Amino acid sequence: MNNIIEKLKKTQDLDDNELRQLLECQNTDDIEYLRKSAEMVRQEHYGKDVYIRGLIEISNFCKNNCYYCGIRAGNKNTDRYRLSSEQILDCCKNGYALGFRTFVLQGGEDAYYSDELLCSILTQIKNNFPDCAVTLSLGERSYESYKKLYDAGADRYLLRHETASPEHYSRLHPDSMSHENRLKCLYDLKKIGFQTGSGFMVGSPFQTTDNLIADLRFLQKLKPAMIGIGPFVSHHETPFADFENGTLELTLKLISILRLMFPKVLLPSTTALGTISPTGREKGILAGANVVMPNLSPVMFRKLYSLYDDKICTGEEAAECRNCLNNRMLSIGYNIVVSRGDIKE
Ligand code: 5AD
Ligand code: FES
Repeated sequence: MNNIIEKLKKTQDLDDNELRQLLECQNTDDIEYLRKSAEMVRQEHYGKDVYIRGLIEISNFCKNNCYYCGIRAGNKNTDRYRLSSEQILDCCKNGYALGFRTFVLQGGEDAYYSDELLCSILTQIKNNFPDCAVTLSLGERSYESYKKLYDAGADRYLLRHETASPEHYSRLHPDSMSHENRLKCLYDLKKIGFQTGSGFMVGSPFQTTDNLIADLRFLQKLKPAMIGIGPFVSHHETPFADFENGTLELTLKLISILRLMFPKVLLPSTTALGTISPTGREKGILAGANVVMPNLSPVMFRKLYSLYDDKICTGEEAAECRNCLNNRMLSIGYNIVVSRGDIKE
């Protein structure tokens, strides 16, 4: 296996057969060799720096019905909320004082947030915090809409492709959602000039090794600046309530593979990883991730932004999470830095 890992490190690529072997490998020495190689590449480009993003969950209204997601429209057993411009600006102010220089506005697909409203929010954030980057994660919108948001100052956009296989996509989503449109959105975002992020869940229902290989191939084609992956975690009010969660081991392995394939990519160690394992986020960093995204949302709404069960950090203030993550990163010899944290050229 070491020669396959060396080849991946040297050429940032493998053939399908080699990828399959690596994805299915259970040998702990090989997996440790993969992790070490990924950590080395990570340190070549980013040293021991960890970038932070302040996540502001602006709305849990969503028109979609993804089978895995707790805020799906079909979930009638949740209270819905949305944040006003003032509340969002307050979160940024709080976050700025805590050293955040990137704010991520994430929400369900909620038509309340028109282009006009979002552009006005973006203008206010950019005027008040000119040294900060703004990332949007608001789902599928039209080319024209994305363009307006970009022109109003949004720097980055996160839209996970969820799965690169159209067949697998149709098992995770109702017929009203289109795999083709999702990919189109990603190419639109890139074309407009956004630093674009994509990604997928690890261990989502019906996922096969071939699906994961297709995910990696799609990312090689898209060449995103950011790749977000995390384990699937079941939510009790969804059609996937009874499916097993994705595993820590496979998620960490994929983080390491992604680091070797995309040496400079911005790769978060996600909250979902911290949810399935108490030290999941630390392990993600040690496997090659270089970003963490603590929550800046007002505490009173946090429990309602429940994409999956048992989500961590729903009771803590922003300052507590900031401190907690600081200590967690220090405990593994890494440091959170006060920076926009753009991708290295
Ligand atoms: N488990 C893990 N991740 C989830 N997401 C949505 N629902 C779940 C779940 N049950 C992820 C999706 C989405 C991102 C915002 O959260 O990949 O793109
Ligand atoms: Fe939120 Fe630890 S990061 S409590």
